[in-house]
Amino acid sequence: MVRKKLNKKNNRKAKIIIDETTYEFPIYNSTEGEAVIDISKLHAEANIFTYDPGFTSTASCESKITYIDGDKGILRYRGYDIEELAKKSDFIEVVNLLIYGDLPNKEQLTKYKRLITRHTLLHEQIINFFQGFRRDAHPMAMMVGVMGALSSFYQDTLNINDSHQRQEATRRIIAKSATIGAMAYKYSLGQAFVSPRNNLSFSENFLYMCFSNTAENYKVSPVLAKAMDTILILHADHEQNASTSTVRLAGSSGANPFACIAAGVSSLWGPAHGGANQAALEMLEEIGSSKNIKKYIAKAKNKKDPFKLMGFGHRVYKNYDPRAKILKSICLKVLKHVGVKNDPILKLAMDLEKIALNDKYFKEKRLYPNVDFYSGIILRAIGFPPEMFTVIFAIARTAGWTAQWTEMIEDPIQKIGRPRQLYTGKRVIKYGVGRSSKNTR
Ligand code: ACO
Repeated sequence: MVRKKLNKKNNRKAKIIIDETTYEFPIYNSTEGEAVIDISKLHAEANIFTYDPGFTSTASCESKITYIDGDKGILRYRGYDIEELAKKSDFIEVVNLLIYGDLPNKEQLTKYKRLITRHTLLHEQIINFFQGFRRDAHPMAMMVGVMGALSSFYQDTLNINDSHQRQEATRRIIAKSATIGAMAYKYSLGQAFVSPRNNLSFSENFLYMCFSNTAENYKVSPVLAKAMDTILILHADHEQNASTSTVRLAGSSGANPFACIAAGVSSLWGPAHGGANQAALEMLEEIGSSKNIKKYIAKAKNKKDPFKLMGFGHRVYKNYDPRAKILKSICLKVLKHVGVKNDPILKLAMDLEKIALNDKYFKEKRLYPNVDFYSGIILRAIGFPPEMFTVIFAIARTAGWTAQWTEMIEDPIQKIGRPRQLYTGKRVIKYGVGRSSKNTR
């Protein structure tokens, strides 16, 4: 097994002394980045748990998919730098890379694109699901619900122990996520759903399904399609983040892939994760003008104020997020293309970035713009309302979620994820003793 091999090569050990007893644990070196101490036998040997809220020091799994060096601002999928993939690849090639481990050759890619596009349609009955939602429902609510509901329609791909079914489910999830996202948008507008067009690329088709309507055909601009594709590539995977860990944890119980991905969509929705792109644009609109930046920077620094600079800071990146760099340059191209010469929100974003990057608080805490800081400005210029930003993130992340879910299922030592706790509640008490006298609940 890889873990044993890595350990043998280095033969490093960690010692933990508890009271007078020393316990030894193997250290596994990663191919790049931090090593890990294998403490899986700690409880059996020492009857004690480790405590790590937010998993800031915990590796939950072994993975070969994505590598991040947060200090240097590096992101690689299967060894390839994100900058190169954003320039030279397209989204479906990146999906194939993430799932299968290396770049496909020409025939493999053509075949894979054909297989994905075969699944862009949704079962007609799924339309009934949409009609159950209020028109003003957040499109992420529709994403969560309809994604989970796919498991009731595609029952021939629920057997997680069958490799063919796993691959087919993965292709369905990726292809249908764009159709569901576009339908959620159309539903919120009160417009008829637009059927997918399989002669278009993944990104072109998504834009087409969102912006075409029965009265007017939408001609997909190559500049906007490239921007959309780049956004999808940049959001495709990001190692063991909250939503990916949610997908893995849900999947560890043997749950079906559609249910697991729906769990990932839920986790992504939060403003500290995928919901930050919507929150970042709304924050810029609230700040309104560069003359208010100082006031908002002061709010962000004030510990008593819950306000945070959205689109700033990252658990892993303690340097400029490489995805934000790419998006900043795309943002300028897209605005030029759609004819926005002086976008006040872009100017505000750039002023805010400059001031924050030179501020002592942000410098000391190493808070840099993350991927969400510029993506909202691009998506708004393409024509999307803020509620759709996280949906687009979710469509992109179906690539990483399915790749990570597949890796987990195929891992021979995979077992159900079951963390423990530091219990600080009451000791045993007799029923009726200590009944509450407060009436605040
Ligand atoms: N504005 C102001 N202060 C901040 C910000 C911010 N955006 N981000 C972090 N800080 C402060 C924290 O208050 C904390 O201060 P303290 O040490 O005095 O307590 C310190 O910086 C460290 O921050 P943590 O919250 O401990 O860092 P963590 O790794 O837990 O959180 C997170 C990272 C959630 C991304 C955080 O930076 C944040 O909330 N940012 C804004 C939301 C955002 O943009 N999220 C998108 C993340 S990228 C993605 O999901 C694709």
